[in-house]
Amino acid sequence: MVMNDLVAIPPVLPGIDGNSVILIAGGSGAIGSHAAAALSKMGARVAITGRSRERVDDCAHSVTYGGEVIGLVADITSSAQVKAAVESTMDRWGHIDGLVNLAAVSDSGRSLEDVDDDEIATVLQTNLVGAIYLARACADAMKKQAKGSIINVSSIGGHRVTPNRVTYGPAKAGLEHLSRQLAVELGNFGIRVNTMSPGQTPSLLCHFDETPGQAPVSSDPDGNPTPTRRIPLSRLGRFEDYVGVILFLLSDLASYVTGVNIWVDGGTSVLR
Ligand SMILES: NC(=O)c1ccc[n+]([C@@H]2O[C@H](COP(=O)([O-])OP(=O)(O)OC[C@H]3O[C@@H](n4cnc5c(N)ncnc54)[C@H](OP(=O)(O)O)[C@@H]3O)[C@@H](O)[C@H]2O)c1
Repeated sequence: MVMNDLVAIPPVLPGIDGNSVILIAGGSGAIGSHAAAALSKMGARVAITGRSRERVDDCAHSVTYGGEVIGLVADITSSAQVKAAVESTMDRWGHIDGLVNLAAVSDSGRSLEDVDDDEIATVLQTNLVGAIYLARACADAMKKQAKGSIINVSSIGGHRVTPNRVTYGPAKAGLEHLSRQLAVELGNFGIRVNTMSPGQTPSLLCHFDETPGQAPVSSDPDGNPTPTRRIPLSRLGRFEDYVGVILFLLSDLASYVTGVNIWVDGGTSVLR
C-alpha cells in the first residue's frame, strides 16, 4: 500500500492522541486504510473492520506507524457481528472515541425494472441498515464517556440522481439523513454525528481508466463518464484527499460541529 505525504506527516490535532480509540468500518478499503494510517501516525489506536480476514489483517499490518492497529472481521449487515466488533474494541482498549463508517458496496447500475431483490437487499442492508447497527453499538459505548464523534461516508450519489442507480443513491441519501437524525438523538450525550461526501475516486468500489493526455473517465457501474472538466479542481479525487476532513471531524476542533455534510469533491457538487 502506498501512502502519500499527507498521511506520512499527519497534523497534531486536539483530541486525537495516544489515548484515542477509533473504529473504522470498511477500514480495510482504500479511503479507510489512508485514514487508519494517519491516525496510527498520530498515536491513536485503531480497529479496522471488513468481511475479509486476510484483508483486515494485511491492512492493519501495513498501516501501523505508531498507535496500534488491529483488524476485526465484521459484516456490517449483521447486527450480531457489528456488536461483537464493538465489544472486542471495548474489551481491548476500554472505550471508543470515534466511529468512521466507510463500509459500502456499489450497485450494478440496473434499471428499476431489472434490479433484483438480492441487489436491493444487499445495497440497502450494507449502505444504510448496517450504519444504524454500527451507530447503535458505538453510541452505547460513547455514552459512557459523554463524548464521541461518528462520521458516515456518503457520496455525490446521495444528492444527485444518476439514471439506473436505484439502490446506491437512495441508500446514501438515507445515510445522510441518518446522520442528521442521530445528531439530534445523541447530541445530549455529547456525541456528534456528521457526514462526509467524497467525489469520484479510483478505488475497488469505483474504477477509472486514465489515458495520458485525455480527461479521465469513470467506468463505474452507472456508466456515466465524468470528465475532469466537470470537476472545478480539474482532477479526480485521491484517497488521501479525505483524510483531513475525517481527522477534523474526529478532533476537538469540530467540537461544535454536528449534523452537517462536508463535501470533499473538488467542487463537483456545486457545478450545474
Ligand atoms: N471511491 C469512490 O469513488 C467513492 C466516491 C464517493 C463515495 N465513496 C464512499 O467512500 C466509502 C469508501 O470507499 P472506498 O473507495 O474506500 O471503497 P473500498 O476500497 O471498496 O472499501 C470498502 C470497504 O467496505 C468494506 N465492506 C464492504 N461491504 C461490507 C460489509 N457488508 N461489511 C463490512 N465491511 C464491508 C470492504 O471490505 P470487505 O470487502 O473485505 O468487506 C472495504 O473495507 C464508501 O462508503 C463509498 O460509498 C467512494
